[in-house]
Amino acid sequence: MCGIVGYIGKADAATVLINGLRRLEYRGYDSAGLAILDNDRVLVSKSPGKVAKLNDRAHADWSPELFSRASTGIAHTRWATHGPPTEVNAHPHLDQSEDIALVHNGIIENYRSLRARLEGKGHHFYSETDTEVLAHLIGDCDKGDLFQAVCDALHQVNGTFGIAVLSAQEPGKIITARRGSPIVIGVGDGETIIASDASAIVAHTQRVIYLDDNDIAIVTADSVDIRDLNNVPVTREIAELGLDTAAAEKGGYEHFMLKEIHEQPDSLANAIRGRLDFDLGSAVLSGMGTSPRELAEISRVVLIGCGTSLHAGLVGEYAFEDLADIHAEVQQAAEFRYRNPIIANRDLVVAISQSGETADTLAAVREAIQKGAFVMSLCNVVGSTIARETGRGVYLHAGPEISVASTKAFTCQVAVLLMMALKLGRGRRFSREDGYKLAREIESIPELVARVITQDARIARIAEDYAKNEHAFFIGRGPMYPVALEGALKLKEISYIHAEGYHAAELKHGPIALLEQGTPIIALAVDIPGKDKTLGNVEECRARGARILGIVTEGDHETAECMDDYITIPRCHPLVATIPAVVALQLFSYHVARIRGCEIDQPRNLAKSVTVE
Ligand code: F6R
Repeated sequence: MCGIVGYIGKADAATVLINGLRRLEYRGYDSAGLAILDNDRVLVSKSPGKVAKLNDRAHADWSPELFSRASTGIAHTRWATHGPPTEVNAHPHLDQSEDIALVHNGIIENYRSLRARLEGKGHHFYSETDTEVLAHLIGDCDKGDLFQAVCDALHQVNGTFGIAVLSAQEPGKIITARRGSPIVIGVGDGETIIASDASAIVAHTQRVIYLDDNDIAIVTADSVDIRDLNNVPVTREIAELGLDTAAAEKGGYEHFMLKEIHEQPDSLANAIRGRLDFDLGSAVLSGMGTSPRELAEISRVVLIGCGTSLHAGLVGEYAFEDLADIHAEVQQAAEFRYRNPIIANRDLVVAISQSGETADTLAAVREAIQKGAFVMSLCNVVGSTIARETGRGVYLHAGPEISVASTKAFTCQVAVLLMMALKLGRGRRFSREDGYKLAREIESIPELVARVITQDARIARIAEDYAKNEHAFFIGRGPMYPVALEGALKLKEISYIHAEGYHAAELKHGPIALLEQGTPIIALAVDIPGKDKTLGNVEECRARGARILGIVTEGDHETAECMDDYITIPRCHPLVATIPAVVALQLFSYHVARIRGCEIDQPRNLAKSVTVE
């Protein structure tokens, strides 16, 4: 949520920053801005809207000579929290003297009282943002040492921040700090790049340093000096990114979302590779980092996450109970710490997060650790905060997910959860023979998904008939119930069609009142236990004029005939079937949104990683 880039080196800073913002735009895209240092002056250019507009604006504001001269700057792409996405609210913000510029991710919770105090001292504010207050506070604390001023200011704020600060008075440096919002520092050759996520850095270097909470760094073109907020030096390792720039390009696809849907056979193969042991009929997940005996002692699994990751957790709940015979439950991460959860010492808490930065999931992880749970994570972004704080877990290896709507992360999360459940199951009642069969089924997931993707053109044609509707319902039972929830989330977030996911049995307890002639019902009627009951629910909807799109099993002609339209998935284990079924719904949602002319990769009001509560 919101993207930060900072650059200090030899290159044209404004161009580096704008290119970096383009790579971060998926994190927030309602306004953008940058500040550069030129002859000891801070120059700012900002624009509402996307980075392309900022690029035009900066080129209108500044001459080509200025572009090539300025080699230090900071920039930001915003997802509005305080105040609408106007030019004045866009970052960077300046202090009272206009010598100090700041970009900020996160929320300063006590900004109102700080602002009142600073106004009492004669400070004048232009924006409605909390960030401008922090810029002024730093200016107010600055007695000739920017680093100390930032420390002093940060000691006074409550809330979260990832910041980059520069000052016309101290041109050779940028100060960056974090608490709750990620900061990665790219260590280049005579240049240093600061960013809120590594995708803005890969074009420059593979060598990065991840700041921890309450770290503050003085960054120059050739050095990174990290301390804590009390000015005590701390050591942070340099890590290798292992990312290539091509992974963050569209590669000929019209949208990142379509590319990421099509990538799923590969990303799933990466998530599964080397993690199945056919001799043992089990999974090898060394990241779970514990002995078989300890695993056998786990008495409950609590899965936490938000949005799509929460839906993956719901599939996991079925998997842990069904395969591993362990009581499992899913909790919405935002609720977890506020409900004072009961955690016993043999509970396993699994935090599921593509980005590894979601504020609510991170807070839930901290609460679970505090309560003594055995906590592990399922993250995609290597080195992300949740992955680091849990210290144990399994990476998805799905590759960078750029589209705001999550696709390949979901399917990889489910695949990894199935492997975790298989591993725990083998420590209990699950036989070697059954373990072997399931391992083979998991191994075949990439192929199952590839078969769904071959129907892309057909799904695009089906989507034509659904794109004009303003409402849709997704229904399913058993493990297909979370798939229905995920299908509805995908459709609503990218096409803006009001879509709801329900347990198939739940429709007649209220929502069926909304059905009219032609209302779409997307029925997960895959041939698994409970299908006949779902078909009964389909008939109830049809009797009220609904139009039915079924997700059915290949060869199940009888079920296909109950539908107005259908998409098939290959026959497979009921839990495994959740993955190809969701891919069918991803393609359906994508094509509906495309036909409606929506901004698929960057839907309105959304941001990729939600780093505020
Ligand atoms: C929906 C979507 C979101 C995320 C949610 C959690 O397509 O992407 O619902 O799943 O914001 O994000 P992570 O997984 O990064 O914690």
